[in-house]
Amino acid sequence: MGESMKGLSRSHRCTEVSEAMLGQKVTVMGWVQKRRDLGKLIFVDLRDRSGILQVVFDSQELSKDLFSKAETIRSEYVLAVSGVVASRGPEGINPNRITGKIEIHVEDFRILSEAETPPFEVMENSTVKDDLRLKYRYLDLRRPDLQRNLMMRHRVAAITREFLNQEGFLEIETPMLTKSTPEGARDYLVPSRIHPGHFYALPQSPQLFKQLLMVSGLDRYYQITKCFRDEDLRADRQPEFTQIDMELSFVEAEDVMNINERLLKKLFKEVMNVDVSLPIPRMTYQEAMDRFGSDKPDIRFGMELVDISEIVKDGEFGVFKNAVAAGGSVRGINGKGCGSFSRKQIDRLGDVAKDFGGKGLAWIVIEEDGSYRSPIAKFFSEAMFNQIVEALEGEPGDLLLFCADENDIVYDVLGNLRLELAKRLDLLKDDDYQFLWVTEFPLLEWSKEQERYVAKHHPFTMPMEEDLALLDTEPEKARAKAYDIVLNGVEIGGGSIRIHQRDIQEKMFEVLGFSKEVAYERFGFLLKAFQYGTPPHGGLAYGLDRIVMLMAGADSIRDVIAFPKVKDATCLMTEAPGIVEEKQAQELHIQIIKQEEEEK
Ligand code: AMO
Ligand code: AMP
Repeated sequence: MGESMKGLSRSHRCTEVSEAMLGQKVTVMGWVQKRRDLGKLIFVDLRDRSGILQVVFDSQELSKDLFSKAETIRSEYVLAVSGVVASRGPEGINPNRITGKIEIHVEDFRILSEAETPPFEVMENSTVKDDLRLKYRYLDLRRPDLQRNLMMRHRVAAITREFLNQEGFLEIETPMLTKSTPEGARDYLVPSRIHPGHFYALPQSPQLFKQLLMVSGLDRYYQITKCFRDEDLRADRQPEFTQIDMELSFVEAEDVMNINERLLKKLFKEVMNVDVSLPIPRMTYQEAMDRFGSDKPDIRFGMELVDISEIVKDGEFGVFKNAVAAGGSVRGINGKGCGSFSRKQIDRLGDVAKDFGGKGLAWIVIEEDGSYRSPIAKFFSEAMFNQIVEALEGEPGDLLLFCADENDIVYDVLGNLRLELAKRLDLLKDDDYQFLWVTEFPLLEWSKEQERYVAKHHPFTMPMEEDLALLDTEPEKARAKAYDIVLNGVEIGGGSIRIHQRDIQEKMFEVLGFSKEVAYERFGFLLKAFQYGTPPHGGLAYGLDRIVMLMAGADSIRDVIAFPKVKDATCLMTEAPGIVEEKQAQELHIQIIKQEEEEK
């Protein structure tokens, strides 16, 4: 049901109509946000993606037929309205709207589409439950805030393209049906119909292809492309997400970082009107861990970690002493001004510590009168206790928190407590954009489950030259030519200089525990390519969703993705993933093992 567009043509979007056009005839089209029926006058707020414009149906100006048609208008109907731009009376002015001083006096209009009453009202910052919103995502996306997010996303992509084009990058597509590219997550697999028992993998990133494009001499590549990773979802993780992916030949890490700093500066200036001062500060991985307990530190605030291992290693408190003796450490942070926290609030911090693997959380409150409240005071001599407080620069009103454990746990616990306290103290300002490069990542990490080294970034990352020899002796100590770009505690991108020598790449596979056969079976095409003349190369990929999330001030990347998935990786609107017909599965040589019976 609805009239046609025949002979009609839109002259303006809603908010393109302005006071400068008084008396002019315009044709606008959009959805009915709101309708107020005053009997002889009907006011409608008409909405399109640009915003809202008030249109007036006046029974004295319209034919009887047209006016009775106007009386049938309801929320979310789609209208085409032609009329004259007029000034609103002084009492009608809405200072909160760009078009707040004007309205359209309707001369003619069509109802292009009627609408059922929507399951929820289309409104900014809706508080409707997520599940319902996502089921009707097409209605949810009518919300001005979500439309702004998608427009912002478009701008980020467009400006990125413009910048990279100017810098001599070529936009080149790489396959979606491919072989597994190891970025550390599980693959999404696509069964082959023609090759029984064979599967394509959807790319976790275009990593291998972009490196091969460098072997081919394409020199500078980029792509804004989907990547697929079957991993647990979080606020900043989706199973399919978008990378701004790039690779450059004949570069060192410095060159990649320079270009990207300029890209970030341009993006934040043009999209946000925020000035990013260059160069962006840099910090090694080790420094980031030691100072902030995180490889993606939020440097909008201090509250840095302090190592007190040296002070307590010979003390009486077994928990502290033993942690140091076992090769771990004892570190603390100073929650400035949190000395007023109740016992219950402090216990809740203890729960946070437990969530991140801590065995306990030791604390000292320095009361306003300078006295102490602390469950660990009894384990220390007064001198040692004072030394601890001094090391953390404790003052009256402070809450000092300590964790004793293996280093990884200490970092994780305190790094996260630091963020928790910052939230409670309201230290995280949304309009403060603090970028940071984190460099010199460890090349490898030991995987307890797999009982082997795994690449921290990916297996194609070049070790630092001075650490190459460590691959034979202490591989875990080798650092990589890898860099992450962090914004306000979120890893928005990461990259590295790649191995371009076949022998080093083979060595790397060996350290990762791949036999030569397995390495060649999986990555033979890459190793072979390296035999035919390979330029030194490196690159980086951003999570586009994450950049836009931070720009939009959104809590989740879901709010900047048109059709996102929910926690269990389903799409509530299409109800994907779905079951397939028996015949379809057969064609793909797939046998479905039914699990319902077992579960019952
Ligand atoms: P990496 O795995 O670090 O590197 O990914 C690059 C960036 O992609 C974003 N990202 C994600 N965003 C949303 N949901 C996810 N599940 C998700 N996973 C990653 C992050 C991350 O920084 N090929 C390398 C890049 C390179 O070396 O050039 C790569 O993919 O913002
Ligand atoms: P206990 O004597 O074991 O009850 O511990 C005394 C205090 O030390 C308690 O406040 C514990 O929460 C804390 N604690 C226990 N284990 C650790 C640890 N690994 N790191 C920091 N504090 C701890």
